[in-house]
Order: sequence, then structure tokens, then C-alpha cells
Amino acid sequence: MSSLYLILIFFLLNSSTSSAMITYNILRFGAKSGGQSDSSKALLKAWGAACATTKPATIYVPPGRFLLKNVYFYGEHCRNGAITIRVDGTLVAPSDYNVLGSSGNWIKFERVTGVSIYGGTLDGQGTSLWACKTSGKKCPEGITSLAFYNSNKIIISGLASLNSQMFHVVIDGCHNVKLDGIRVSASGKSPNTDGIHLQSSSGVTVLSSHISTGDDCISMGPGNSNVWIENIACGPGHGISIGSLGWELQEPGVQNVTVKSVTFTGTENGVRIKTWARPTKGFVKDVLFQHIQMVDVQNPVIIDQNYCPGEKNCPHQVSDIKISGVTYQDIHGTSATEVGVKLECSKASPCGVKLEDVELTYKSKPVEAVCTNVGGKLLASSDNQRCL
Ligand SMILES: *[C@@H]1O[C@H](CO)[C@@H](O)[C@H](O)[C@H]1NC(C)=O
Repeated sequence: MSSLYLILIFFLLNSSTSSAMITYNILRFGAKSGGQSDSSKALLKAWGAACATTKPATIYVPPGRFLLKNVYFYGEHCRNGAITIRVDGTLVAPSDYNVLGSSGNWIKFERVTGVSIYGGTLDGQGTSLWACKTSGKKCPEGITSLAFYNSNKIIISGLASLNSQMFHVVIDGCHNVKLDGIRVSASGKSPNTDGIHLQSSSGVTVLSSHISTGDDCISMGPGNSNVWIENIACGPGHGISIGSLGWELQEPGVQNVTVKSVTFTGTENGVRIKTWARPTKGFVKDVLFQHIQMVDVQNPVIIDQNYCPGEKNCPHQVSDIKISGVTYQDIHGTSATEVGVKLECSKASPCGVKLEDVELTYKSKPVEAVCTNVGGKLLASSDNQRCL
């Protein structure tokens, strides 16, 4: 054998082993399907094994229902920067909401890098907690179904989240995150069940997702930048919202957000920016809402800088959050109320907005627009929106 040949064989063997994924099936770590026996430890053991190697690894959840209590994945001692979690089954929260109580999160990742979740269903079993909350009884706060904190290079693709107790998915303090093909489903009457909540994160894309829930389909808190949201169906729900902002006295701003190709159906709001009427310094700038279809939406286009539910905690105060560079472009469809465009900005810092090709109707007539403290431009829209 020539030495060249040997080198070639060596090279082939080497490349095939390094590209082969190691797979950790949670059944091998003691998980049991059937939805009765707690598989939390098995999943964490599989994570431990994947973290112990530096080779790309897959944690596999086969078909079936797997009961999980709180499962927290920490990245501090993880050597692996490429862990895939492939889920063919359903992860189920305990049916008694007192088990997880007010523990914050059900499935949580913290300080991880390079984690991808493909497929799977999360069943938060939230219906009994919602009933407790809406009855006015004293109940635990409930938990977010899936949360990533202070993490980088995250992919969540093809995941379904059903009936979360509180928020479905939270991304907080993360960079470089892709969510794709997410299906969120909960009753339109379920309290505080935001679909996807982004906070203090940058470089987040949310693509091709279908969100039906009882609160915001997507909400963006303070400190988000470079966010891209495209091809979303929202409804029922409270729409896509930047805010609430301005609860804290000092807050990082929200910058460079694109929301495009979204259909809102029967939602409370369409595209919304909302700030507490408190004297907080902060900003929202460079936001594009584009190619939006409204179907029977109560507040299709709304900026509310006077947010103060119950008139508590903000008496006679105005928001000092500066809103600028907000463009509404190609927004069509139907409003469920007469006022389809409501831009109520702060007298402390008037908004800079541009409306271009915004044509909404209420009972087949153009909607009205109400604007306060707004500066900006209006292009090619109907006369009713003369408030600019
Ligand atoms: C705005 O965000 C997008 C990603 O959503 C990014 O591609 C673009 O470079 C950002 N623009 C600026 C000026 O940072």
C-alpha cells in the first residue's frame, strides 16, 4: 500500500468519525413514556452525557408522553457547543399546577451555547390554573413553559407549545436566536399566556409561526435589538407588541425591529407599541411594520404611551420613552372598531412615525385615526388619517 493511500484512508476514517453525531436516547437514561413517571432526571442525565463530550451530540426524545417537573439545563459546565435536542414525543407538565407552583420556569436553559431543539410538543396543562385565576381565587403564578436565559446560538424549530400556564416561550438576555415553525396554542381567554416573549436580546428571528393564545402573540420587552419577525399568523391573542416598556426608571431601548408579512385574525391589537405612563427614560427606534393583513382586529395600529391599568402606580405621569423612526407600510384589512389607527404619544416626547399605504376599513368604510403628540409623514393613505 502506498503511503498516499494510507493517508487517504486515515483522512476518510477521521472525517467520518468526527461528523458522526452521538445520540443519547432518553430511554437509555431511564425515561418512561405514558405520562405518569417523572422523566426529568433521565433528560438531565442525557444532557450531562452530551455536555461531557466536545463532539456534536443529539439528545433524542422518542414518540410518547413524558412527564417532566422543572428541568433546568445549565451551560456552565457544558463542554459541548453543538447539542441538538430532537423531540418526536410530547413533554408533559404535571396536571396539578401546585407541583410547579410559582417556580418561574418549567423547562429552562441558562448560559448555554449552540443548543438546537427540533420538533416536539410541550403540553403545559394550564387549563386548571387559568380556571383558578379567572375565578378570582388565590392561585400560584404558574410557569413559563420554555425559557432561554443568557444564551447564544439557539435554534428552536418545529416546536409546538400547548396550554402553557403562563408564557409559552421566553428568550431573555440571548444573542443569535432563530425560531422557526413554532406553533403556539392556548385558549383566547387564558390569562398571561404570551406566545413568544423577547427581552434584552439581539439578533432574534421568528419565522413562519402560528400563534393562538390569550395574551400577546409576540411581545418585546426592553433591551431588544435587531429583531426580525416574518410570516406569522396571530389570533386569537393580543397582537404583536413592543412593550410594555417604561416600568423601571432607567431602561435599555428597543431598536431595529422588523415585523413583516403577518396576518392578525380577531385579535385585540394588531401592531402595538405600549409604554407605561411613568417618567422613564428610554427609546424605541427604527421599527418597520410591513405587509400586514388585519381581519376584524380591535386596535389594528396602536401606540399607547398612556398605559396605566387601573390608574395605579402612574398618577398624572407621562412616559419619557422616545418613539422615533416607526414606519407602517402596506397595512390592509378590517378593523373591529371605528378607530383603526390610534397613535397616542407622550407630550414629553412626541413620536416620529410614517404611515404609507395604510388602508383599513370598519363596516366597509375607511377607519378613523386618532393621534396625539405625533409628528411624521403620511403617504398615500385615506383622508381619515389626516392627523399627521
Ligand atoms: C437590523 O437587524 C437586522 C436583523 O434583524 C440586521 O440584519 C441588520 O444588519 C440590522 N441593522 C442595523 C443597522 O444594525
